[in-house]
Amino acid sequence: MTRHSVEIEGVRKAFGALTVLEDVSFSIRQGEFFSLLGPSGCGKTTLLRLLGGFETPTAGRLLIDGQSVEGLPPEKRPTNTVFQSYALFPHLTIAENIAFGLRSLKLTGADQERIVKDSLDMIQLSHLGGRKPHQLSGGQRQRVALARALARRPKVLLLDEPLSALDKQLREEMQMELRRIQRQVGITFVFVTHDQEEALALSDRMAVMSRGHVLQIDEPNRIYEAPASREVAAFIGSMNFFEGVVDTLENSVVRVRTAGKGILTAGLPGGSAGRLAPGTAVTVAVRPEKLAIGSDDASRTNSIPGSLRSAAYFGDRSHLHMQAQDGTTVLVSAPNANRGLGNPAAGSSIVASFRPEDAVLLPSKGTWNGTSGNTHLESNRHAA
Ligand SMILES: Nc1ncnc2c1ncn2[C@@H]1O[C@H](COP(=O)(O)OP(=O)(O)OP(=O)(O)O)[C@@H](O)[C@H]1O
Ligand SMILES: [Mg+2]
Repeated sequence: MTRHSVEIEGVRKAFGALTVLEDVSFSIRQGEFFSLLGPSGCGKTTLLRLLGGFETPTAGRLLIDGQSVEGLPPEKRPTNTVFQSYALFPHLTIAENIAFGLRSLKLTGADQERIVKDSLDMIQLSHLGGRKPHQLSGGQRQRVALARALARRPKVLLLDEPLSALDKQLREEMQMELRRIQRQVGITFVFVTHDQEEALALSDRMAVMSRGHVLQIDEPNRIYEAPASREVAAFIGSMNFFEGVVDTLENSVVRVRTAGKGILTAGLPGGSAGRLAPGTAVTVAVRPEKLAIGSDDASRTNSIPGSLRSAAYFGDRSHLHMQAQDGTTVLVSAPNANRGLGNPAAGSSIVASFRPEDAVLLPSKGTWNGTSGNTHLESNRHAA
């Protein structure tokens, strides 16, 4: 059985009359890189601060490494936090900054020296241990902050948007660095971000949050390929939504009668058993890259004719806005390598097609089985 590193049980947090976390329950596994992803104000930092001991839950229980952390101040918890503003002490050298985090452990000089040396090796800055923070680049300073937080070997490292101050290129480098270091130390990371690409690229699993609730917890590819609800599907990446009602169910394919696009077919979603009676309102959701233009591939049973409104060329791909015959816009992301052509001219007639198995069939509200991922919060989602 996988050991749980963090267990969050029925946690609620209110600031006065404002409830910012509503009955949140889930677990994080030992050694997992776990991200909390959601729009600004959804409660990510609040949840992290509850774990770190900087806030107290209004209700519910938090366990870290199997132990309740109730009443424990931050320094007594087996956690450490890396904040967005990674304040290093400007008057101390890099090595002294790392050693600072160890002071309460009352180590011998030799032990402390060894940990500082190992920490500098880990972040590949051994040659800069004697420098002061202002003599480092932003990315180097961020690595020092990480090393300082890891030097005490916490059971869980809490990171609140630690890369958001860095420019795009450095940020991407640091993402890989963070992942490498996490693998190396094997410590559970709880990583807060509102950048979906960052969460998808780094996480073993991630929780998608919205307005104080967890919508879905899953591996990144599942979140992207099999979102459990419309809300998750809309939040992660781009998605076309085609509304309709269930017409018939044949084997593992659902035929959906749409208002303006005829019959569309989609694979039978997991957890939907018994919930797809003819007439049920559903949404066929299709990612732009799952749509092909002008394909004569017979396996693409779903065809939506229309005309090209505009096209944007991105080198490897083009993003096409097609107007379907019912007047709605369909977004297509087409790889250019396969087409070998420029974009079709605006106004030309085109057909967008997709395979049933590439569509996600979503209920109009909530999720098929009333739960999402391994949380049991779905039923509370619309209560607020
Ligand atoms: N100490 C506080 N007192 C009152 N309200 C607070 C307090 N801390 C946070 N909030 C409110 O709680 C909600 C959630 O805040 P939180 O900082 O957890 O959001 P977040 O998901 O981290 O957002 P961001 O991506 O912008 O950092 C917000 O509405 C915020 O205004
Ligand atoms: Mg925040």
